[in-house]
Amino acid sequence: MYQLVYISRITSTGLSSPSTLNDISEGALERNRADDITGILCYGNGYFLQCVEGSEQALTNLKNRLLVDERHKELKILDFSEITERRFASWSLRSITLERWMNKDSELKKLMPFKPYAWEANEWQQFLDILQNYYEAQNKAGHTDTPPVEYSTLGVTLSKVVGQHQAFFLIQTVLGLMIAATLLWLML
Ligand SMILES: Cc1cc2nc3c(=O)[nH]c(=O)nc-3n(C[C@H](O)[C@H](O)[C@H](O)COP(=O)(O)O)c2cc1C
Repeated sequence: MYQLVYISRITSTGLSSPSTLNDISEGALERNRADDITGILCYGNGYFLQCVEGSEQALTNLKNRLLVDERHKELKILDFSEITERRFASWSLRSITLERWMNKDSELKKLMPFKPYAWEANEWQQFLDILQNYYEAQNKAGHTDTPPVEYSTLGVTLSKVVGQHQAFFLIQTVLGLMIAATLLWLML
């Protein structure tokens, strides 16, 4: 069993689509399931940090595909080594954007804002340890392979924002109709 950890920067190609993160994770989920790869993909502040676990061959193949993927650049491998057990056994790929709890968590706060290229040698391990603990707790609560983005602050998830606005307009419409109905009832 091996683990591959790397960081990279999103490119303008990656940023050009509001659903890049969703697109990546949708394809990756299926592919990783088939290749017996598990892991997480973290996005924030224009950076990706990914930790994937699986056979040496499966990870080498994935690394080669990642190296030619134009949605990110400056891929820097932090670790490609043998491990005894998986950190993220329950997730074919857990995709996360910077979430609210990350700024509240006292340990994680030290690593924010998310600038992984500036981290000291072992800080990525601390980051993964914290994420592992957090998602293990989530897993116990029964959330596995949940939809990728839960809370986002960034443009990559613009589609989410559009979705929220749609909900807002729906509520406005319902309220408007209720007011109109009340006025009608008062007039009659
Ligand atoms: C940041 C990032 C993370 C990715 N993670 C995975 C992954 O975990 N598994 C995977 O199969 N593809 C992943 N991809 C997509 C691959 O780079 C590649 O596009 C995909 O595997 C399909 O490759 P193919 O078109 O050569 O078959 C990722 C891409 C990016 C930009």
